Amino acid sequence: MKKIAPSILSADFGRLGEEIAAVEAAGADWIHIDVMDGHFVPNITIGAPVVQSLRKYTRLPFDVHLMIDQPEAYLDAFLDAGSDVLTVHLEAANHLHRTISHIKERGIRAGVSVNPATPLSHLENILPDLDLLLIMTVNPGFGGQQFIDSMLPKIRKARTMISAAAPHVLIEVDGGINRENISTVARAGADVLVAGSAVFSSDHYGQTLAAMRSALKC
Ligand code: DX5
Ligand code: ZN
Repeated sequence: MKKIAPSILSADFGRLGEEIAAVEAAGADWIHIDVMDGHFVPNITIGAPVVQSLRKYTRLPFDVHLMIDQPEAYLDAFLDAGSDVLTVHLEAANHLHRTISHIKERGIRAGVSVNPATPLSHLENILPDLDLLLIMTVNPGFGGQQFIDSMLPKIRKARTMISAAAPHVLIEVDGGINRENISTVARAGADVLVAGSAVFSSDHYGQTLAAMRSALKC
């Protein structure tokens, strides 16, 4: 079953606990948490203490997307804080295999994310070791950007590669997903659909998530 993961990047940061509880009640599957360091991406969000503080507001899986340089230095902090899926960027990790192994040794699902300009061929030697591949469909750093349409063939190609070489790997797609394009993205091969502004900027989270869910059934 396809999963919808609202990204709290577009939530009210002064009321994050309530916002998370609200999207859980509205039917979210995972909570997507964007961690930005002002170096790997030109924006700063939250660190591990905030993730830990949010843990008590929901039982939904925390899908933590690290958009930070040197992610290996912060893995244990985010694992201890209650991550259920921990994703690092291919472009930021110098020793990706070691990083992925460390996350998995801690019993947590390990993901790798690729920026729009990064080719899937760079994943060839790591793909079977992953639990999740996160394909960025905007340049990371900000919510509310437009979906890059030329990423659809990349998602389809990832689906073909994964079906052949590593069928256990989930494909997550992140950036610019809304009620209108969610079904196209899912049909291209996404298992997990991240949506930030489309959910948190809407007037009624429940109606928005229900509309997205029904679009996924088309
Ligand atoms: C972008 C983040 C996304 C972002 C998506 O750097 O990784 O998770 O929150 O936001 P929308 O859905 O508004 O593009
Ligand atoms: Zn994200």
